[in-house]
Amino acid sequence: MRKYQPLIASIVLVAGLVLAAWEPSLSAESDVDEGRFTPDQIEHGRVLAGIGNCGTCHTASPDKPYAGGVDFPTPFGTLYATNITPHPQQGIGGWSREAFFRAMREGVSADGSHLYPAFPYTHFKNITDDDLDALYAYFMTREAIDYTPPENALRFPFNLRFLQWGWKLMFFDPEPWQPDPEQGQQWNRGAYLAKGLGHCSACHTPRNAMGAEKQDRAYAGALVDNWYAPALDDSQPVPVHWDSDTLYQYLRSGLSDYHGVAVGSMGEVVHRGLKRAPDNDIRALATYMASLSGDTQPVNTQARSAELITAAQQRARGDLSAGEALYIGACAACHYNSPQQPMAARAELSLNSAVTADDPTNLIRVLLEGIGTESGSPILVMPGYSGLSDTDLVELAQFLRRRSGLPEWKNLRQRVAELRELHRQAQAGTAEHTGE
Ligand code: HEC
Ligand code: HEC
Ligand code: HEC
Repeated sequence: MRKYQPLIASIVLVAGLVLAAWEPSLSAESDVDEGRFTPDQIEHGRVLAGIGNCGTCHTASPDKPYAGGVDFPTPFGTLYATNITPHPQQGIGGWSREAFFRAMREGVSADGSHLYPAFPYTHFKNITDDDLDALYAYFMTREAIDYTPPENALRFPFNLRFLQWGWKLMFFDPEPWQPDPEQGQQWNRGAYLAKGLGHCSACHTPRNAMGAEKQDRAYAGALVDNWYAPALDDSQPVPVHWDSDTLYQYLRSGLSDYHGVAVGSMGEVVHRGLKRAPDNDIRALATYMASLSGDTQPVNTQARSAELITAAQQRARGDLSAGEALYIGACAACHYNSPQQPMAARAELSLNSAVTADDPTNLIRVLLEGIGTESGSPILVMPGYSGLSDTDLVELAQFLRRRSGLPEWKNLRQRVAELRELHRQAQAGTAEHTGE
């Protein structure tokens, strides 16, 4: 509790200002006239909703699209995503355009209450009027679903919504992002998508104790919902840095020959979110993301990776550990690559962030869970290895680190135990739901 003392002090201060936090209610627009939306606008809204991942957060079960109920465990308790279908009571059916715009840009609900930043309005504030109109048209023309998500279970004082006003004062700059005239059109388009609708930094940037993104460490990598979103700035852990071509390949298909595959929450971003996005938007995103590394000299990706793969294979030859034996027995058949021609479908582990990042989470999860068509590429699967003991997993992981010429992971054993427990719980949960 001690570490929350300053927090409590600031809460008392903020409580005094509660009246200042008051926002008017904008709920009632009795009839939203669906006829005023054009089919083009609705279709555009569908693409944008994909890029914004609205479905990932607002759809708990596929038969109730956008009806909410997805849980967000936070250090302060659990929050549930709301119903954003046009249902007049449970959803946003009664919301005017103005109320929708205010929610997306200021994080204020139609009744005037403040929303939590688990809803990325801190990014959505950068969306243009035209794009917000298209999103509004799309959501107002979805099927209205009569479903009430569970009540939030946040601890006092975090359950007091007006305190979010104080959070906004400290951490939220309502000014929208402006294009950079020094940069080209494609870069600016990519920056607009990444900073706004795509909210890429929401996962890839570490957060402070109050849950706000650390502005000075944008894209330095972060753990979100037990997936590690690797750094994409100049500290990126992949030995062959991302350039606009490999980024394009990865964001379009979820596969990069020189890096590996998109799994877990990034699998959803690529295979569900960006699926409908037009090619020039993916190109634009790739151009902008490539600039984050600060690399100015083009790298000969193929030559560099051939060198690294050869070195990894040589190191493995001299390694006589139990981890190496496990690797040869369990992994090499699928993950062996010729240095000249690595293939994404055989993800080259010496180049892969699951092995080269400082955080072992993704490697352990992939080993415990395997990769199904839901989590990774829709056409590839990898078996799970939860049958291996914790000691075997540790040996194997440390061997993969050595093979890449990297120091051992320090927190590995503890992380394996934690993630195995989560895996066990998830399995028990699934068995319950399916009645097994
Ligand atoms: C990272 C998860 C996440 C994503 C992505 C997301 N939302 Fe949400 N959204 C939430 C959560 C959580 C809440 C509830 C916040 C609260 O209760 O304070 C919410 C609330 C809202 C609200 C306010 C509803 C109300 O009743 O007050 C609207 C409107 C909304 N989201 C629209 C969208 C749209 C449109 C998109 C896609 C462009 C989107 N959201 C993407 C998590 C998300
Ligand atoms: C919901 C969280 C989340 C969001 C939002 C997100 N990412 Fe990711 N991203 C991840 C995770 C987790 C990984 C690791 C996936 C893996 O290793 O397979 C990842 C991996 C990546 C990688 C590969 C990094 C590497 O070295 O392996 C790139 C590139 C990337 N993301 C770009 C983006 C872009 C561009 C956006 C916005 C359009 C974005 N991400 C939005 C979670 C997210
Ligand atoms: C039957 C073939 C097969 C075997 C055996 C196999 N894998 Fe994989 N592995 C794959 C495929 C296919 C993918 C890509 C899956 C996808 O994207 O859906 C993959 C992906 C991966 C990834 C990439 C995750 C990312 O985020 O980029 C890692 C790490 C990995 N495997 C490690 C291992 C290890 C360690 C072993 C040995 C214990 C192993 N694999 C055994 C087929 C296999």
